[in-house]
Amino acid sequence: MTEAAVDPQEFRRALGQFATGVVVVCSMLDGTPYGLAVNSFTSVSLDPPLVAFCADKHSSTWPNLRASGRFSVSVLAETQQDVCKTFAAKGADRFASLSWSLGVSGSPRLDGALTWLDCEIESIHTAGDHDLVLGRVVAMERSAGRPLVFFGGAFGRLAEPPPAATEREAEAAESLSELAGLDVESPFFAVLSSRLAAPPAGP
Ligand SMILES: Cc1cc2nc3c(=O)[nH]c(=O)nc-3n(C[C@H](O)[C@H](O)[C@H](O)COP(=O)(O)O)c2cc1C
Repeated sequence: MTEAAVDPQEFRRALGQFATGVVVVCSMLDGTPYGLAVNSFTSVSLDPPLVAFCADKHSSTWPNLRASGRFSVSVLAETQQDVCKTFAAKGADRFASLSWSLGVSGSPRLDGALTWLDCEIESIHTAGDHDLVLGRVVAMERSAGRPLVFFGGAFGRLAEPPPAATEREAEAAESLSELAGLDVESPFFAVLSSRLAAPPAGP
């Protein structure tokens, strides 16, 4: 399919098939908090720690974030659908009806979120009708919970916890990913994987 054949509505629908989480990106400028809901957020690099999101050039919020030189990311929990709507609505006082605090680098972070990242703007790249914003993570914190999901233009929840939902399993998965290059087809890994899948042993 050529570029000329890309119908905007169909393009939007096609991209809607890509399930994402939702974050609220915030910043403080001259004592005023600013923030917008974003689903274009992604991790970019581990070393250095970089994340990215795309900001609509028509957004009235983005210029304030840009001017502050930094931003925070609050990863929304499944209970925070209304928070997302608030931070997507034009003209509302987005911070009036919810509790928030300042992160270590001075950007607002929303209570009840799953993860908070404090970032400094590393670079901004023009990308069509959006700006692609790279942020360097300078601090972070996380709590337990399940994410708000955005799919097909609607909000959803995970039907079941993901395989690595528990702390123990997440740590096991992390250690396994460090074993890249080993023969994972060997009987040893079959036994290890069945043990990881088994419920934790009782007391
Ligand atoms: C689920 C969801 C995801 C969104 N993702 C983005 C995004 O990635 N980038 C963006 O610039 N706006 C995104 N928006 C729109 C903004 O949250 C918001 O509507 C817009 O910033 C409002 O305009 P303002 O910035 O002029 O106040 C998203 C909105 C929703 C509901």
